[in-house]
Amino acid sequence: MDLKELNWLIKEKYKTNINLNNFIKDFKKLQKNIPLDYVIGETDFLNCKINLKYKPLIPRVETIWYMEKETNFLKQYFKNKIEILDIFSGSGCMGIYANKILNSNITFSDIKNTFLKQIKLNCMINNIHNYTIIKSNIFKKINKQYNLILANPPYVPKKDLIQKSVLQYEPSIALFGKGKDGLGIISIFLKNLNSHLKNNGICILEFHPNQKEKIQDILDQSNFKYIFKKDQYLRDRYVLIFKK
Ligand SMILES: C[S@@+](CC[C@H](N)C(=O)[O-])C[C@H]1O[C@@H](n2cnc3c(N)ncnc32)[C@H](O)[C@@H]1O
Repeated sequence: MDLKELNWLIKEKYKTNINLNNFIKDFKKLQKNIPLDYVIGETDFLNCKINLKYKPLIPRVETIWYMEKETNFLKQYFKNKIEILDIFSGSGCMGIYANKILNSNITFSDIKNTFLKQIKLNCMINNIHNYTIIKSNIFKKINKQYNLILANPPYVPKKDLIQKSVLQYEPSIALFGKGKDGLGIISIFLKNLNSHLKNNGICILEFHPNQKEKIQDILDQSNFKYIFKKDQYLRDRYVLIFKK
């Protein structure tokens, strides 16, 4: 734990009103390397408040960065009301933000029950009342087609070096993709994407920088058009997939 974390904890959670007992409990959590956002209990995703009560993946700065970066493009591209699917939804952060900036109906899906509760809670906190939540293994229970699909699947390869506190406290179901290269879930997702994307629809798919070439191979065998993009650290990080 460093002093910066303590400062953030006080600023974000206690503000001017420190309850000493609770503060000591939180201090001990930080000493155990529990991630600060879990200790605070919420985080910010482009001005959407994202509660973390059920311990979904803590939204990553890369995801926040590219969602902000693509905002103007998405607003320009989708002028009419659209259907959005936030698949692999976790906290619901991507869909909640997209629904805020686009005239849309929003559907969330995840495989884990507690994250479905988390999404419901975050919709309430962000004043989203009209939404659908589907429990689904990738696309299995999803029958409709969407104009925009946001997908940040588990993709970390098994052998990737991961910070100890992430391994210890964040859900492994949210991190590791199946297979040695971590591409198991992404491959199934891409195989089934065409039937869930409307004509002229777009999918934004996040991946591990080492997976670009294999994803490109899969996309080259499809009829999709695509543009690979880098994150703020100039690492290959996401791809915009177009159904034309
Ligand atoms: C990397 S997290 C993404 C969370 C959130 N979208 C974000 O960007 O912070 C991946 C999510 O996929 C879910 N997941 C894992 N395997 C899945 C599967 N087979 N089908 C559907 N969801 C799955 C996990 O529960 C987790 O919430």
